[in-house]
Amino acid sequence: MLKQELATNNLDAFWMPFTANRDFKKNPRMLVGAKGMYLKAQDGRDILDTSAGLWCCNAGHGHPKVVEAIQRQAAELDFAPTFQWGHPKAFEFAARLAAEAPGDLDHVFFTNSGSESVDTALKIALAYQRARGEGTRTRLIGRERGYHGVGFGGISVGGMVKNRMWFGALLAGVDHLPHTLNLEHNAFTKGQPEWGAHLADDLERIIALHDASTIAAVIVEPVAGSIGVYPPPVGYLQRLREITEKHGILLIFDEVITAYGRLGKFMGSEYFGVLPDIVTTAKGLTSAAVPMGAVFARKGVYDTLMGAAAGERAIELFHGYTYSGHPLACAAGLAVLDVYKEEDLFARSARLHGHFEDAIHSLKGEPNVIDVRNIGLMGTIELSPRPGKPGERGYDAMVEGFDRGAMLRVSGDSIALSPPLITEAKHIDEAVEIIRGSLRAVV
Ligand SMILES: Cc1ncc(COP(=O)(O)O)c(C=O)c1O
Repeated sequence: MLKQELATNNLDAFWMPFTANRDFKKNPRMLVGAKGMYLKAQDGRDILDTSAGLWCCNAGHGHPKVVEAIQRQAAELDFAPTFQWGHPKAFEFAARLAAEAPGDLDHVFFTNSGSESVDTALKIALAYQRARGEGTRTRLIGRERGYHGVGFGGISVGGMVKNRMWFGALLAGVDHLPHTLNLEHNAFTKGQPEWGAHLADDLERIIALHDASTIAAVIVEPVAGSIGVYPPPVGYLQRLREITEKHGILLIFDEVITAYGRLGKFMGSEYFGVLPDIVTTAKGLTSAAVPMGAVFARKGVYDTLMGAAAGERAIELFHGYTYSGHPLACAAGLAVLDVYKEEDLFARSARLHGHFEDAIHSLKGEPNVIDVRNIGLMGTIELSPRPGKPGERGYDAMVEGFDRGAMLRVSGDSIALSPPLITEAKHIDEAVEIIRGSLRAVV
């Protein structure tokens, strides 16, 4: 075989992430273009994006303003370090983000992904506790079935078994709250379930076990996303806030999915009326046009770390990435913020919530549907697993959905929906009908 042929036709070299590589490479679902709500398949078909890519393309695909900003920035300043140097767009972007964030979440640390945001937040929490003279607080508390990316910190506090079981002992000193899904009490609930706030009280049990003086932080997704959209029970997040505050423990919200309009607000924290100490974000930050993450810290956290350093010439936090605040990402993010504002996308997503809710709950009664959950513009249709073959029915639904013209995001046997915020009611209807057809076809 000619080398050239190998280079263009061989799918072997790319070891695909979170993918059944062997099956994909037999029947590739190749995407070659995207505009607005649709991707373009290699065979020329339009494919409806029902999940904003991976919960990230909130402003839709290929927005001309964002494209133009990236092109201009690449020509003007492709890279400048942010270790002991700076470039204006990183400061401008951070200032604009801080101005939008609730409460005194006034300081922004840039990363390149959600996973890096999570590891950054955990490290800031540990450093903060040490800086304020509470260096014995080294334990981290996550939650069962949580997803916090794939770094060692993130999989340690995360709670998805397949993401953890292959990778050894993970971080020491991590404990987990119980997850909040309960189909017996809450199946087919629209929005937040009434039952389950008491599950937050388990934190008191964990504190009694380890003593508060050993615990640095609790991290949860306000709405567990990747596991298949678990809206928090009414009052649950408030309870976590009360308990953490009482015991001097930092509360971290992982808002990699819930920030930037997914719940109709800049952050999910505003939607729930709960102010955490640190917030991790990524995805919608740049609408995924350039990879980037951002960690928001409250004033007290930042000031404590500034104050603890040995003089103004001392580095206050020994942490950062070569690409923290990359010029292309900042340019993309600034343009995306403009698009969110000019097109009023957060309010628009909030207005569509009722239609979205009714549409996806219309799938109750379709073959194998055991639950439908939703909040804001995120929702899931949970299927019963085939006996002894968890995940297969969901996988088949994804493949069938692609044949029918939609990209469906499947986690195990859950089909998650999180359309770009530019979605119209007709796109939601189109998505739901493709899912309905797929469910009837795969049985
Ligand atoms: C809540 C949450 N945290 C972290 C991550 C990891 O983000 P990334 O894949 O950009 O590393 C994700 C990704 O889905 C997420 O949903």
